[in-house]
Amino acid sequence: MARLDVETYHIPVMLRECISHLAMVPHGVYVDGTLGGGGHTAAMLSVAAEDARIYAFDADEKAIEHCQSRFAEELSRGDASRLVLVHANFDTMADVLKERVISCGQAVNGILLDLGVSSFQFDHHHRGFSFRHMAPLDMRFMPEGETAADILNTRTEPELAQIFRDFGDEPQAWRLAKAIGQRRQLARFATTADLRDLVIQQIPPQHQPKTMARLFQSLRIAVNRELDRLESTLLSMIPILAPHGRVVVMSYHSGEDRVVKNVFRSHGDTLTTITKKAIEASPEEVYENPRARSARLRVAERRP
Ligand SMILES: C[S@@+](CC[C@H](N)C(=O)[O-])C[C@H]1O[C@@H](n2cnc3c(N)ncnc32)[C@H](O)[C@@H]1O
Repeated sequence: MARLDVETYHIPVMLRECISHLAMVPHGVYVDGTLGGGGHTAAMLSVAAEDARIYAFDADEKAIEHCQSRFAEELSRGDASRLVLVHANFDTMADVLKERVISCGQAVNGILLDLGVSSFQFDHHHRGFSFRHMAPLDMRFMPEGETAADILNTRTEPELAQIFRDFGDEPQAWRLAKAIGQRRQLARFATTADLRDLVIQQIPPQHQPKTMARLFQSLRIAVNRELDRLESTLLSMIPILAPHGRVVVMSYHSGEDRVVKNVFRSHGDTLTTITKKAIEASPEEVYENPRARSARLRVAERRP
């Protein structure tokens, strides 16, 4: 893949806040569970000492390829490199770290999760993440399991309504689910245009962009089982965090934020919640990068 300009791939959200809340110790072991364009990883590397390690995961091979190029110099140091790129779902991170870190007598000093999709995936991929681009309705981070089209073509109307409501906060969830049920008897859903056309038929023009954004987001969350994976990842990582190790999670949807809040709260014996209220991006950042508008940052620390 041709190397994209760093800013073109993805502008990292709340970079300063994320790094300061990781409270990095220079010789520590850190995990960036959502590498993307590598913006947060680059900032972590700028704080890391020569013997630090950063394990950076992404399920999307394009993100890994981009960062192999972005961090080529660091990676060229082989075993001495402070950065290890892992092409895998972040729900495998506890297993990877147990094998590579915990079994060597070390612990994990901090984890960062910057959830959702990168601007690159949204704007350039032909995987159907955005209603603005004609593409197959796929939306999988990795080419395995059900696509968004499969979900639209096979789930019952109540199941579809629940997906749109729970993962998209869509007020017209029932109406849209019913319309999808009728439409697919005539022709199966295959492309972003098929879903876009359905919204155009059902929803007044002034509400169409928001409805499409909510439907596409909810399908992406369902396809990638994002909330289940987030919860299981947080639960599996708590036991392998070092004392005072930090978990820093940035979410972009109320369902994700709820999962983070609940895991932190239900593990109050092990974790201290550092952010009593979620941190939001400053108006200046939102002006510069509108994607930051919905970001909510929560931080917890492992009790000693
Ligand atoms: C918002 S972007 C991260 C951007 C990154 N922080 C940066 O500064 O460029 C989210 C990234 O996480 C990846 N991702 C989302 N869910 C994932 C999962 N369950 N496992 C691994 N990677 C995931 C996506 O493929 C995407 O590249």
